[in-house]
Amino acid sequence: MGKALDGVRVLDFTHVQSGPTCTQLLAWFGADVIKVERPGEGDITRSQLRDIPNVDSLYFTMLNSNKRSITLDTKNPEGKFVLEELIKICDVMVENFAPGVLDRMGLTWERIQSINPKIIVASVKGFGPGPFEDCKVYENVAQCTGGSASTTGFRDGLPLVTGAQIGDSGTGLHLALGIVTALYQRTLTGKGQRVLAAMQDSVLNLCRVKMRDQQRLQHGPLQEFSQFGEGIPFGDAVPRSGNDSGGGQPGRILKCKGWETDPNAYIYFITQAQVWKQVCEVIGKPEWVEDPEFAKPAQRLPKLNLIFGTIEQWTMTKTKFEVMDILNKFDIPCGPILSMKEIAEDQSLYATGTLVNVDHPERGTYITVGNPIKLSDNDVKVERSPLLGEHTDEILTKVLKLDKSRIDEIKASGATGDKVREAAE
Ligand code: COA
Repeated sequence: MGKALDGVRVLDFTHVQSGPTCTQLLAWFGADVIKVERPGEGDITRSQLRDIPNVDSLYFTMLNSNKRSITLDTKNPEGKFVLEELIKICDVMVENFAPGVLDRMGLTWERIQSINPKIIVASVKGFGPGPFEDCKVYENVAQCTGGSASTTGFRDGLPLVTGAQIGDSGTGLHLALGIVTALYQRTLTGKGQRVLAAMQDSVLNLCRVKMRDQQRLQHGPLQEFSQFGEGIPFGDAVPRSGNDSGGGQPGRILKCKGWETDPNAYIYFITQAQVWKQVCEVIGKPEWVEDPEFAKPAQRLPKLNLIFGTIEQWTMTKTKFEVMDILNKFDIPCGPILSMKEIAEDQSLYATGTLVNVDHPERGTYITVGNPIKLSDNDVKVERSPLLGEHTDEILTKVLKLDKSRIDEIKASGATGDKVREAAE
């Protein structure tokens, strides 16, 4: 079996989370990903949220699998030389520096194109062109400016950010799609192009249904929201909807047995119209099937608190897994609230490669989340992240094919950080 991106070489000039997520995906599809890092420190996440002293953090190791690492001070002329040699032989360059950083390095789009007109230059920025284009942006800034925070949480509580890193990892995913699309177009045009994924845009794209609701509001209240049944008027912007479903089928998170002590003893329960009869029978309310007050979805919308309150009386008598077993038999959609501990212990996720145990020379074995996108003809094993500068020599020698005297000159200049390392030793 081959690899989907066999032969594609990526110059990975990314750091923190958004860019590395993207290049990790490309590596899992078989691209040769060369990560350029600042000598001495490397990607800042190597040392952020460390659980073991002096060992690359899980933050870093879980975002940089299957890559090679070269250390380069790109502000040193020799470092810049090596970087430009890499630009010549790479198909894609990915970066997520603050706006203006690449230009300050002298790497304008025009300069990069003059070095390699076929290269695809892919960037994550916080915002697209406009009033905020110069801002530095992190995950939660994107969640707040992309519409997620204002629509997440409960109506009478604070806006909330979500645990899912939709600003960072979500944007990395968008960027990866842009890159493979540009690579495909290049097979027809022979030319590279720029790909931009702005974090605000990516979050907004994931909040598309909320922009749908914003427009629906002009034509009346959002009847699937609990506040409709509670008689609370809507304002002029989409409110936070708690755990109400964002689709056409009402849903809620309900307590299950043990909820008093277990913060995750809950299940998401969807009263899908097609299985309303089964729902009524399972929860012991068969009379609701024919009752003209409950029989049709529109009649149920103003009574969601009553309906879900009644269902919860039933779910509270069972564990979330018992509820799931029973509901699945009737094709009633539901989702137990799984803790990270429960997910980490789920052997079926290891069987599919969604979770992977990886060996690391300094930290030992750790769990990482593998490639969530499965291709039947893409045989790539998840490998550990590189140590800082682990492949510097290999890349200078085997990829750039520089001779020993040239490599010695580069190293003597301090561009690869060897001087820094020697001084520290
Ligand atoms: N050698 C020499 N200098 C290097 C280098 C290298 N290998 N790699 C980076 N640098 C320098 C850059 O040239 C820049 O210097 P300058 O400001 O003097 O031009 C400097 O490092 C800092 O880069 P910057 O991107 O501004 O880092 P930061 O820590 O100040 O900001 C972010 C971090 C994430 C806020 C910013 O990069 C950003 O907004 N990125 C785009 C959005 C994004 O991806 N955010 C999510 C991150 S998960």
